[in-house]
Amino acid sequence: MTAKKTPDVVSSREDDYSDMLDQPDVSLVERPGASEPYEKVFQRRLARRQFLKGSAGVAAGVAVGGALVPEQADAFWWSWWRRRFSRRDDTLRFSPIEGSNADRIIVPYGYTQDIVIRWGDSINRHYPDLDTDEIENGALLAPGAGEAQANQFGYNCDAVEFYPLIPRTGISSTGFVCCNHEYTQPEMKYPGWPLFGEQILDPDSNEIRPATSEETAARIRDFVIEHPEAVKVELAAHGISVVRVRRRRGRWSYRKGSRFNRRITAETPIEISGPAAGHPLLQTYGDPTGTVVKGTLNNCAGGQTPWGTYLSAEENVDQYFGNFAAFSERASTDEELNVLDAHARLPLPRGQSNRGWEYVETRFDVDVEPNEALRFGWVVEVDPYNPHTPAKKRTAIGRFKHECATTILAKDNRCVVYSGDDARMEYVFKFVSKDSYDPHAPRSKAMDLLDEGTLYAARFNEDGSGEWLPLIFGTGRLLPEFGFDSQAEVLIKARKAADLLGATPMDRPEDVEANPKSKKVYVALTNNTRRQNTDAAGTRIFQGREVNTFPEPANPRGPNRFGHIMEITEANDDNAAEHFTWEIFLLAGDPETTVGSYFTSIDDVTANINIAGNTAPGQEDVYYAGWDDPSQVAPIGSPDNISFDNDGNLWIITDGSQPRGTNNGGFAVPTEGPNRGKLRQFMSGPIDCEVCGGEFTPDNRTLFLNIQHPGGRFASFGNPTLEQPSSFWPDSSVDGGSKKQPRPSLVAIKNGRYGWGRVGE
Ligand code: FEO
Ligand code: CA
Ligand code: CA
Ligand code: CA
Repeated sequence: MTAKKTPDVVSSREDDYSDMLDQPDVSLVERPGASEPYEKVFQRRLARRQFLKGSAGVAAGVAVGGALVPEQADAFWWSWWRRRFSRRDDTLRFSPIEGSNADRIIVPYGYTQDIVIRWGDSINRHYPDLDTDEIENGALLAPGAGEAQANQFGYNCDAVEFYPLIPRTGISSTGFVCCNHEYTQPEMKYPGWPLFGEQILDPDSNEIRPATSEETAARIRDFVIEHPEAVKVELAAHGISVVRVRRRRGRWSYRKGSRFNRRITAETPIEISGPAAGHPLLQTYGDPTGTVVKGTLNNCAGGQTPWGTYLSAEENVDQYFGNFAAFSERASTDEELNVLDAHARLPLPRGQSNRGWEYVETRFDVDVEPNEALRFGWVVEVDPYNPHTPAKKRTAIGRFKHECATTILAKDNRCVVYSGDDARMEYVFKFVSKDSYDPHAPRSKAMDLLDEGTLYAARFNEDGSGEWLPLIFGTGRLLPEFGFDSQAEVLIKARKAADLLGATPMDRPEDVEANPKSKKVYVALTNNTRRQNTDAAGTRIFQGREVNTFPEPANPRGPNRFGHIMEITEANDDNAAEHFTWEIFLLAGDPETTVGSYFTSIDDVTANINIAGNTAPGQEDVYYAGWDDPSQVAPIGSPDNISFDNDGNLWIITDGSQPRGTNNGGFAVPTEGPNRGKLRQFMSGPIDCEVCGGEFTPDNRTLFLNIQHPGGRFASFGNPTLEQPSSFWPDSSVDGGSKKQPRPSLVAIKNGRYGWGRVGE
């Protein structure tokens, strides 16, 4: 497989092409061939399971030196042949790295990395870059700091998507990146920010003791009232950045002052569009029309549409709102009780929020604006090519804790958007647009394609089949007697609607991606320690409703500390299908575990689930898509973002516990062919970071990664703070030299000094 040759256009003449945006697509859109009957897919899956079971038996037979029966001999020679010629089929030829605790990014031998843009780097030449040496002196509390941040790259960058300078072309050396900024860590930015549990002087006894939660909340309230500029900085550090980037002489950099550079913050007006726009539940005192919201919050993973726009997914939006208890205690009218119903499955903090914004901006006070929080938790669409067009929240894709919004075209070119709802025991969703995308029509025709269509939630049956359950008002129990007055309310209360339809509670669905080659869909289920395989399991309340926490085939481990990856085959390989088959692709953990089992057949995993006996596979039991040699695969934990290269290899980047206590990193694994399941580590991030993004340029010669919260999470020593971070990346390191504050940053990984090779090779 060779990379598609694309011209390296190095141009700064941005004015020349804005009129090209409305032209038909210049690239060829892949149209899948004849479909395969659904039954055949299922039979093939069963056949593969049988084969894998056979392989496991052969391994055992060889180990004891017994004679092989003919079927075993066939499997043995097939296994030998597979290893002998594996590299021929394996496009992942990089030298794998080991997990690490170093305070830097480690990549395979021969690879290079560029820091493209860091938190606080100005994208507007009229505003200075952030001087991180001044943070400890209170630079971010000074007047004007919020305005400066609104013109600088935001904090905790997460999803990154690359857009060629001319849309929908394969140009890979110049264009835009869209990054979003998930959340902020005030304890890393403002000297004196009150910490939970920190030592304070008891005013009565004059002794030093840890602050109580109530005292800390009061101190945060006092801090933001004294320093309202801090809240301005926080609001500005959230949102989305659109940044002009290019690769010159092999190095990536961003272009300060490009007229395409753009910041969308938590205060930028954003249109609410689609079926829920204007619904009374989305109306506020500040916006009686229910159609324009100030800003976007907690944008996690995202996606890119076939027409070249950016999708950014609002995730943990509940944390920004406070004082819910006051509203819930006074709610009495039908309208107010319906607001409570809308909040029930995505509960808000009952008292003060941990950020205290409600003391500075009243829209974050639920008692003042009970509906404001309902205007967050959506998918936001941004056009990076038109900096003056407003971003839009696409309500047709539903409201929940969206991890991602990843797209693929169905056979009839309807746009399918997959999204995980990242909380314990929540669901996997997909949206299918009503109309098809026409790549030969003017681009403007596609710009509101995501406003009409059908939202589905997934049910994973125990026999390996599954259904996409349509969330359509007037069907099933999605009726007024169950609290829905319209399709708008079904979308606003999407979690509740999915409950009533019987969707399957999952182990924290994070990123979902369709393999562009096979059309199979992969779901990263990051972890779930509340899934239990002991007497501790039972019916428990999660996010306002009851769930049984015992393992079941789709979530087979308890506790599921290291997460798993699900593989979905849509019926007829059509991503708009309403039926599918599924199987586990990966049970993450340590392949060389001495405590658990290395499974080579998923049937052996599910055979160990025994509800009556309270036994089920645990966190030490692992499975690598049937790969039978544990010494050849890497330990991995907490898969979060996933993506595919042009060869259909799955790339996985992590956020959370690693089996051997190493830093988060990036991994790659073939999903098809003889090396299916052979997972290797590609990179390791700095201390306490989470690795995000995972975006290839069209030529696959650059992999963009976002490094989020270096030095500020999963405390390595003490409680990381501004005064004592655990990492000093990227401007310095814990390993010595002058120390610089850590900064979330966008990184470009290349194969070779000039990036001439494809990443992964
Ligand atoms: Fe923001 Fe689910 O990670
Ligand atoms: Ca994530
Ligand atoms: Ca992804
Ligand atoms: Ca995560």
